[in-house]
Amino acid sequence: MPGKYDKLQQQFLCCYPVKKMAWSTVKLPLSWEDQQELIAATCGHPMNKRYPVRRSYLEAFLKQLMHLLHDQEDVHDDIYSSLCGPMPDNPGATGPSSSLYGYKHYLLEPGVHITLRESKSFVSEGTTGLCTWEAALALADFLLQHRDLVAGKNIVELGAGAGLVGILLKLPALGLKTGQVLLTDGSEPCVQLMRENIALNFVDKPAEERPQAEQLNWDAVSEFPWHSHAETDLLLAADVIYDDSQFDALLGALDYLYTRRGSGLETLLASTVRNVDTLHKFMTQLGINGYKVTPCANVSACASHFCRDHTAAVQIISIRR
Ligand SMILES: C[S@@+](CC[C@H](N)C(=O)[O-])C[C@H]1O[C@@H](n2cnc3c(N)ncnc32)[C@H](O)[C@@H]1O
Repeated sequence: MPGKYDKLQQQFLCCYPVKKMAWSTVKLPLSWEDQQELIAATCGHPMNKRYPVRRSYLEAFLKQLMHLLHDQEDVHDDIYSSLCGPMPDNPGATGPSSSLYGYKHYLLEPGVHITLRESKSFVSEGTTGLCTWEAALALADFLLQHRDLVAGKNIVELGAGAGLVGILLKLPALGLKTGQVLLTDGSEPCVQLMRENIALNFVDKPAEERPQAEQLNWDAVSEFPWHSHAETDLLLAADVIYDDSQFDALLGALDYLYTRRGSGLETLLASTVRNVDTLHKFMTQLGINGYKVTPCANVSACASHFCRDHTAAVQIISIRR
């Protein structure tokens, strides 16, 4: 049965910006029982208890809630205890940088979710890939709406970062019926994080039912052991067009993969439109290199499976040669 605070719950668990949350669903004054229900749906959620969101996010959420309740005499103990109670940032995580990470839980449908450990910073350990970007959410939404594009396909993701898209493609509960899914990234910390995130989401699943994660730098695409993987039908990439110093390497990787596979290969590329000139430059290069580019329609806010910032424009294109 849907709960009163489902939207806030979905937003809290994936650390959606506190100021943009659906606070209008909180009808004031909030009764004692409602306060308890709201806390149980968010900070007290079993997934958050097991794999907590980052401490700074939890504090910002509770402060906003207390601000909302400032005219009320009774503020439930659970709110104070969630704020003051001990909460390790990363139970189970070890290593020098473990405190730099927090968990996010992406609730996709009732009973279906992805849990990812992600960096608190957009740029850390020399890469931008240790957290999930808007373009990955847009691409995941697009694939969920166009299941035929992935069914039966062997898929390789380039610059996969924390691994959301590839993990989603193999989630048994979504029944996407993909073939082999290989997540790649040039950054070693990203590959380690993807492997950790795969393990989190595919507990007890045999290797053949999981996505794989390998290091692949676009500069060294020809050195990758492609013979150990199934022939690629579909290439995916999200938010990899932001640094024009990497364009030659990425175009070189595409050229290598299209030459191996021929016209059977399709690429779906999702890019956040930050700088129109940078994107335009890449599109021009694609044209010069003989690719046919077809724009794809973005999934609308009401059909999205994610809490997304729909004000951030994401462009999805299909690339064929
Ligand atoms: C902005 S992040 C996007 C991560 C993920 N796709 C997402 O949208 O959440 C860009 C990713 O591309 C990877 N990348 C950048 N240059 C690369 C290269 N030359 N070879 C392989 N990966 C690269 C980075 O390591 C990083 O993980």
